[in-house]
Amino acid sequence: MRILSGIQPSGRPHIGNYFGMMEPAMQLQNEGDAFFFIADYHSLTSTHDPAVLRQNVRDLAIDFLACGLDPEKATFWRQSDVPEVTELTWILSCVTPMGLLERCVSYKDKIEQGIKPSHGLFAYPVLQAADILIFDSNVVPVGKDQKQHLEVSRDIAMKFNDRYGADLLVVPEPRIRETTATVPGLDGRKMSKSYDNTINIFEETKKKLRKKIMKVVTDSTPVEDPKNPDDSYILQLYQLFADKEKVAEMEASFRAGGQGYGYYKQELFETIWEFFLPMRARREKLEKDSDYVDGVLEEGAKKARAKAREVLDRVRNAVGM
Ligand code: TYM
Repeated sequence: MRILSGIQPSGRPHIGNYFGMMEPAMQLQNEGDAFFFIADYHSLTSTHDPAVLRQNVRDLAIDFLACGLDPEKATFWRQSDVPEVTELTWILSCVTPMGLLERCVSYKDKIEQGIKPSHGLFAYPVLQAADILIFDSNVVPVGKDQKQHLEVSRDIAMKFNDRYGADLLVVPEPRIRETTATVPGLDGRKMSKSYDNTINIFEETKKKLRKKIMKVVTDSTPVEDPKNPDDSYILQLYQLFADKEKVAEMEASFRAGGQGYGYYKQELFETIWEFFLPMRARREKLEKDSDYVDGVLEEGAKKARAKAREVLDRVRNAVGM
């Protein structure tokens, strides 16, 4: 079974990325042939400063490795080191109906957020389909926001197989973990850089993390009153990090009343800080070892490229090249 997923280097990863994709993907490292990559071609749709893009790729590589991506088990590379994927994108573009892309909500969302429409932004899901299909991927662990893109990838694979021959391309399955499908941000909306509501895995300092957690939106129930645990963003976030007993304790305390939200935010803050401490320590070491990080990405690109070549040759032959 091939497991594949990608993440854009559009800034430092946040805990939505962590619980929505990184952690579930890393769990799958033991269950099959894991392929993970940094989607820098995709980031060209929004990051236009070359120095920033380069730095983001480097930071993200270190962050993912620090979080537990194991290069002994998983192949890890930078998307643009396997340029075959852009050739497949073109071939797939020619079987992709316009309507399929016109229906994509993420394109419409980005335009609404003020990103200038470009052909790259519109065709983004075709590149994503190529990422997946060029490695004969079976399972793609993602957050819920990628569900539609996965449906597009499946549709494109089926259209291609219809036109050129059954079973030429593997039709992939999304794997979306129910409990962390959409991790909420500080304001309860989906955690996302574009909403400015993120908590990064590696906030610069402990103080900065605390400041962010103190911004989690709450209602104005007075300190002494009982509070409703069911619609609290504090608890929704706390559940990601704390074990069941701790969560039950906090819920009971909410119902009992007598504590202000600041008290629970402090607990949330300390729990998050401790959760990522071992990874933070690994990160510090990796930061000083660029040769190791470069080596992992190079080695990964070599392996990924060999597989990509094989599928691309199959496709080129099928379409008449
Ligand atoms: P990206 O870089 O926006 O996000 C990376 C992964 O994190 C997940 N995610 C979340 N999950 C739960 N809650 C959240 N608040 C949250 N925010 C982000 C995303 O669902 C994603 O799984 N187009 C992709 C990158 C990509 C890709 C691929 C993924 C390019 N090619 C091929 C899979 C397969 C993207 O922009 O993800």
